[in-house]
Amino acid sequence: MKDKRVVVTGGAGFIGSHLVQELLRLGNEVVVIDTLLRGNKLPSEVMKQIEFHKTDVTNFEEMLRLTKGADIIYHFAAILGVDIVADNPIETMETEVNGMQSVANAAIENGIESIIYASTSGIYGHVAMESSVNEEILVDPRTSYAMAKRYNEIYLASLHEEKGIDSVALRFFNIYGVRQDNRMVIPRFIEQAAAGRPLTVYGTGKQTRDFTYVSDAVKASILLAEDVKGFEIYNIANEREKTIGELAVEIKELMNSSSEITFIDAPKKRYDYEVGRRYGSSEKLFAQTGYKPDTELKEGLTALLEMSK
Ligand SMILES: NC(=O)c1ccc[n+]([C@@H]2O[C@H](COP(=O)([O-])OP(=O)(O)OC[C@H]3O[C@@H](n4cnc5c(N)ncnc54)[C@H](O)[C@@H]3O)[C@@H](O)[C@H]2O)c1
Repeated sequence: MKDKRVVVTGGAGFIGSHLVQELLRLGNEVVVIDTLLRGNKLPSEVMKQIEFHKTDVTNFEEMLRLTKGADIIYHFAAILGVDIVADNPIETMETEVNGMQSVANAAIENGIESIIYASTSGIYGHVAMESSVNEEILVDPRTSYAMAKRYNEIYLASLHEEKGIDSVALRFFNIYGVRQDNRMVIPRFIEQAAAGRPLTVYGTGKQTRDFTYVSDAVKASILLAEDVKGFEIYNIANEREKTIGELAVEIKELMNSSSEITFIDAPKKRYDYEVGRRYGSSEKLFAQTGYKPDTELKEGLTALLEMSK
């Protein structure tokens, strides 16, 4: 992608900030809309090269004004983090549902080509028990966050039918990398290991996740924006299953930490998030773009630790 005017909502967040950097590198104009709920993760030299607006995505009038002249909208603004979502289910859903309404209506009125939406692998809920999940499988969203994401996918599909808007939903599988904060497991383990505190694993540690490196996720997000037709859903997954127990050991070893690894019961409110097994297939992404996330966990963690120094 080159010479486009691209709006990124949530562009000051973890994934958004990496996406913004890459869009700039490729020669695009970037407009970021973010309330800075988690602070500003955009480096200061990047701030100088973009148009930044501290604005809430649910504010339709502002979205209409700020998206004028844009070619593409990446809609990444969201409330996330298991504990935050579990404590604020209504706010989470309102940000998702009202945010999408305002983004979509602004896109329709301003004649914007396409919307690239950050959905989640959380939509699969507890279904990934036998094998890796693909986009065809019946989903099982159980949390306010996952239900709102699924609602937005359906909404985007209907917008294509009714208004001709082209869009893509990206189902991200545990993205990690530099600038992620400790709402997520990898930065939390790194923080614990650095402080010499125990790495706290919920449950048996045998639950699996599919950890996808942030630059891979950004690459996929940009490739998929090249040719958006109709409405399509894509998994953005590394396709490798890792247990949380193995992850703790790997981080401890890479950091030469003497921290213990302890296993504790997950708080009750986390029940619907504590899925036994989850890993994804990126075959559909590969078929469309010829690319799928390929950074091994060890390689990604090493890069992350190096950049965090
Ligand atoms: N990180 C992951 O592993 C992961 C996995 C699945 C899906 N996702 C999705 O990817 C997107 C980016 O996630 P992230 O990890 O970068 O999270 P993040 O919390 O770092 O970034 C989200 C950004 O959205 C902003 N925001 C929140 N509410 C807003 C509002 N009402 N108006 C404007 N801005 C608002 C926040 O200030 C923040 O900067 C989100 O939509 C998230 O649901 C992330």
